[in-house]
Amino acid sequence: MIVRIAFEGESIDVREGRTIAGALIAAGHRSWRSVDGQARGIFCGIGICQDCLVTVNGVEGVRACRRTARDGDVVERERRCGS
Ligand code: FES
Repeated sequence: MIVRIAFEGESIDVREGRTIAGALIAAGHRSWRSVDGQARGIFCGIGICQDCLVTVNGVEGVRACRRTARDGDVVERERRCGS
């Protein structure tokens, strides 16, 4: 089954069960935030480093590598940390 999420206005179809990070990478995004001008995306992939933080449905600080993509999710870049 396919679910659809939105990332910064882009519609992304993703196989059910994938993480948001997996969906973003599959859609060609290698980074989606920056810290002090350094690009950040996936680093540890297991929920420790927080490099992958995104805002999901208005909730900040969501680890994209741990959060399963759900149909209708609205994903935005983190606005904190100079992103
Ligand atoms: S990639 Fe490290 S917490 Fe998500």
